[in-house]
Amino acid sequence: PNFQMIEGNSSNIGRMDCRAKGAAPGFKVAIIGAAGGIGQPLSMLMKMNPLVSVLHLYDVVNTPGVTADISHMDTGAVVRGFVGKDKLDEALTGMDLVIVPAGVPRKPGMTRDDLFNINAGIVKTICEGIARSCPRAIVNLISNPVNSTVPIAAEVFKKAGTYDPKLLLGVTMLDVVRANTFVAEVLGLDPREVDVPVVGGHAGVTILPLLSQVKPPCSFTPEEINHLTDRIQNGGTEVVEAKAGAGSATLSMAYAAVKFADACLRGLRGDAGVIECSFVQSQVTELPFFATKVRLGRSGAEEIFPLGPLNEYERAGLEKAKTELATSIDKGVSFTRK
Ligand code: NAD
Ligand code: LMR
Repeated sequence: PNFQMIEGNSSNIGRMDCRAKGAAPGFKVAIIGAAGGIGQPLSMLMKMNPLVSVLHLYDVVNTPGVTADISHMDTGAVVRGFVGKDKLDEALTGMDLVIVPAGVPRKPGMTRDDLFNINAGIVKTICEGIARSCPRAIVNLISNPVNSTVPIAAEVFKKAGTYDPKLLLGVTMLDVVRANTFVAEVLGLDPREVDVPVVGGHAGVTILPLLSQVKPPCSFTPEEINHLTDRIQNGGTEVVEAKAGAGSATLSMAYAAVKFADACLRGLRGDAGVIECSFVQSQVTELPFFATKVRLGRSGAEEIFPLGPLNEYERAGLEKAKTELATSIDKGVSFTRK
């Protein structure tokens, strides 16, 4: 296409100088994969976020339409669109936060690991761009399989000499969002009042909800624990099957991604006590990466919290999670060393 870049919230007769001067202070955020199933609602929701002053929408296809559309929203963020591989660096330059929902989604019958062959290369290319153009940005990595794509990103950044583990965050927020919803359903509570820590990783048995640590404090029958654990671990598959070939979770994912990105931006702003679960480089277990609660601050994931007390059921789940996670992490690491 002839289109290379369009700028929203402006026109040929717009007074961009005045607008730039009057622009609300805020952060610069790029969405990579912005024209996709997650990318589009995520772009819309980030345009509504008052902490965002500049929003860059990048994809290999279809960004012009999405950018034109979103740029008409009368919110503060200035929107710019970028399409095609040669525009990646321009889209990333100067960004504080980069959210990556680029890559293919599952179809029924597939595991997230079945996406590895295509998505590993996509994530590698994007992370090479981040290393060149915004090495100090916080990265929120959504592309599956997260348990392998985060190690891939770390290796790319190490190779480029830009790796800072505090800045690389695998997005597992959807597991927490689902856990809060399903637990609230069982307890008969408003999901906004419920906080379920979900640790481990983001695939099947690696998704480990800690139901013994739910807030507000509560107890479950063994049947409820089995039902909830199974539903949280297979929430993604529930959506993939319901969509019957048309993709995986996009709307709830966009919601979860914005919830997580907003937490990262509040951390960057210097807010105290911003704590969310994320898949990060970690010493909580013997594995190099693991999801637990982390405290988000001006320099990213500034503190990684331990698992806390686990019951017998959770200890058994942890062992299963670690076995699968170790394989997925190794797979990601060896991909970049090939
Ligand atoms: P989609 O196919 O609808 O959109 C993906 C977008 O990525 C497309 O617009 C495509 O053009 C773009 N893309 C492909 N290669 C690119 C590249 N090199 N650079 C930039 N953009 C590129 O898929 P979707 O439903 O939006 O899902 C995207 C990814 O997110 C999938 O891998 C999916 O498994 C994953 N996902 C993760 C979670 C999570 O909890 N972490 C949840 C849901 C989906
Ligand atoms: C999810 O949890 O919904 C995503 O990881 C997408 C998927 O493939 O299940």
